[in-house]
Amino acid sequence: MTETPPICNYEGSDYQNTFWDQGNRAYEDAAEGVALKRLLPKEGKLMLELGAGAGRNTPRYQGFERVVLLDYSRSQLEQAQQRLSAGLSNRYLFIAADAYKLPFQNGVFDGATMIRTLHHMAEPRLALEQVRNVLKENSIFILEYANKHNLKAIFRYFFKKQHWNPFSPEPIEFVALNYDFHPATVRSWLQNSQFAVERQLTVSHFRMSFFKRFIPTKMLVFMDSLAQLSGDAWQLSPSVFVRNRAVGERTQGREGLFFKCPACGNGLTDSQIEIVCNECDRHYPVENGIYDFRVDK
Ligand SMILES: C[S@@+](CC[C@H](N)C(=O)[O-])C[C@H]1O[C@@H](n2cnc3c(N)ncnc32)[C@H](O)[C@@H]1O
Repeated sequence: MTETPPICNYEGSDYQNTFWDQGNRAYEDAAEGVALKRLLPKEGKLMLELGAGAGRNTPRYQGFERVVLLDYSRSQLEQAQQRLSAGLSNRYLFIAADAYKLPFQNGVFDGATMIRTLHHMAEPRLALEQVRNVLKENSIFILEYANKHNLKAIFRYFFKKQHWNPFSPEPIEFVALNYDFHPATVRSWLQNSQFAVERQLTVSHFRMSFFKRFIPTKMLVFMDSLAQLSGDAWQLSPSVFVRNRAVGERTQGREGLFFKCPACGNGLTDSQIEIVCNECDRHYPVENGIYDFRVDK
């Protein structure tokens, strides 16, 4: 198996608390809620949430019967378990794994989301390929990405406050393992991975302290919900949500199996204690309700 790209590791991070709960981001959170409501299918069976973090968005996937929360960081998943009172329900499945090496058979999910996670990917195309593999044909994948072609970056570039060009197609790594992408580039990656782009919503247009200080959050969210609708025509906001449909055929996974070994691809039988790969002899523990499929940790 080839080397996988570096991972932006959130182990031990209190991101949910510092960035969201205490970080004055009620507007961004609610604006994302509006976008998800517009893009999510009304119903579905099994949803895969990639880079689920502490499960901030998980309650928004009401229409799906079950949700698989996948994150590389085990501590993020533990926080998600607490937030979602997961002990009380078998509605959720928690998987510590790398999005570049998904531990699932092909075609087992009816929907997927990846919110605020692609921006940590040095090799986004590899991750998108993995997502497409595990989705059934015709299912929906909602991707959020950070947009380099946003109004603030364009102004800063023209006034020489920023050296990188917001119009050029390549990603910009503004901090280690934090990338902004050009919308046309992301669309081309999606299409190459057999996703048909159905709808784009631009989100968080008013992500500036000036607006937040003087305009009530509810009003900002309402303004954003109107501005989002221009997303198919142009993308000038810092965040873009794209609804994609999985098209084309993929090899089917092994009948009756859900997991596969992320290291060698061999089919795995589920167990509540430990999953063992008969092919490469790797052991994957299941502890306190979290399956641990991290290979290189
Ligand atoms: C900015 S947080 C977003 C969390 C959540 N989606 C949200 O919007 O609140 C990014 C998450 O992606 C996870 N992540 C980053 N790289 C990953 C990878 N290669 N595989 C799985 N998860 C990854 C991190 O552990 C982190 O929890």
